[in-house]
Amino acid sequence: MKIALGSVGASATTDLLTVLVTEDQLDKDALVNELDEALGGALRIAISDEDFTGKKDSVLVLSTARKITPKKVQLVGLGASSKVGEIELRAAAARAGRWANAEKAASLSIALRNKDDHAQLRTAAEGVILGAYRFTRYLTGERRPKKELERVHLGFHGTKESAKASAEQKKAIARGEAVALAVTAARDFVNDPPNELTPARLAESAQKLAAEHGLDAKILDFAGIRKAGMKLLEAVGRGSRNEPRLIHLSYKPEKARKSRKRVVFVGKGLTFDSGGLCIKPAQGMGDMKSDMAGAAITVALMAAVARLAPDVEVHAIAAAAENMPDGDAYRPGDVFGSLDGKTVEIINTDAEGRLVLADALAYARKLEPDYLIDHATLTGACLIALGTQTAGFYANDDKLAELYLDAARGAGESLWRMPLLDELRDSLKSDVADMKHTGDRYGGSITAALFLREFVGDAKWAHLDIAGPAYLDRPSALSPKGGTGFGLLTMVRFLEALEG
Ligand code: BES
Ligand code: MN
Ligand code: ZN
Repeated sequence: MKIALGSVGASATTDLLTVLVTEDQLDKDALVNELDEALGGALRIAISDEDFTGKKDSVLVLSTARKITPKKVQLVGLGASSKVGEIELRAAAARAGRWANAEKAASLSIALRNKDDHAQLRTAAEGVILGAYRFTRYLTGERRPKKELERVHLGFHGTKESAKASAEQKKAIARGEAVALAVTAARDFVNDPPNELTPARLAESAQKLAAEHGLDAKILDFAGIRKAGMKLLEAVGRGSRNEPRLIHLSYKPEKARKSRKRVVFVGKGLTFDSGGLCIKPAQGMGDMKSDMAGAAITVALMAAVARLAPDVEVHAIAAAAENMPDGDAYRPGDVFGSLDGKTVEIINTDAEGRLVLADALAYARKLEPDYLIDHATLTGACLIALGTQTAGFYANDDKLAELYLDAARGAGESLWRMPLLDELRDSLKSDVADMKHTGDRYGGSITAALFLREFVGDAKWAHLDIAGPAYLDRPSALSPKGGTGFGLLTMVRFLEALEG
């Protein structure tokens, strides 16, 4: 898909035209009037017949009977002008992208509202890519989409065909593309089946991504993981023929700067979680191909980081493994050391995520980050607590919490701060090792976070339990069902807030 600035009027050379309208301005909207005139009054009639008011999420589609160049016009309501922000705009552009797919269109123009607002171009570019996303890698013949949306023009009410994009406008579009393509790359990782996306493949993809974007990549294979002393990652990974990997990508800005922040992201990368010997029930087990969503956004983020080139040092660390029952699988009752040095008694092999993360966090800590942030599809308990659309957010530092929650609010991703309740720490006490890795069933998302906290030392750390929003069984405003890439938009915003 190519996105550029273009014209959005009645003579726009495009299959489809989407016009974003607000409730208060619909009646006197100049572009609506222009189109209405060219259509011989049909648009205003449709608006009145359909009681279309421009309220948020309302849509009106009209066939143009070839009276104008676009075959169809879609009006998308944004609600009251005063309440239109980035989130509404992104969702509306996503709706247009989805519509273009449904219409099997090759080209789409979107009329935005405020000419002087470059941020709109970025947001709309993000939205249309996210909305048009489909996972078609394994579809053949009739099942393959016949047409791809190839060309998207973003324009403003009143922009003429000849309008030349300024450097700033081009940059805004390019930034939107970079971010959205990272999100769709993360979705691809999540949606890819577990027989294809093994830990080794994930590592290869990460390495390729790094090479393409001029980033440093370091991969530890099984022998490397053992040699490094990552005994917990080893324990989880050893029950599968698909051996584990530790993935480390890094980005350093070119120019030296003293006060520059260093951020290390860590992601849980279970390419499949059968539960191991404590095997999961068959129902829903297939969804556990999504148990690498944390790693997916962590790795994919780096493509966006390379293109946005923020003035922040960024590291991505993914602990990739497959949790399987096997003759060599780890068992309840086992005791392992860890990279940190603490010993851990295994209680339930299905609580594998916190183990691979423990070693990854201990590894990350050595990079002396200003901020250490992990994403993990960690607990079913978090889904019970917060539902499918909100991630559990934990932080051992209030300033970091504030920064991160702010970034999430701006990005339109729903986080809810959860407490690191010290009174639950007792349930991790073990008779034979420094600690157990699971506590009581009650407060399961919190005890998982408390376990992780043992491995972050004095780093300023935040943990996002994305078990709910990472993978959905129904479409959302920005995403079809399946992998969502949830978390990545906030990561980008957070990095941007740390710049300069
Ligand atoms: N990957 C799962 C958590 C999960 C469940 C993610 C549902 C997304 C949807 C994790 O490894 C797991 O199995 N956690 C256990 C922990 C328990 C054994 C302490 C859980 O939540 O049941
Ligand atoms: Mn599990
Ligand atoms: Zn898991």
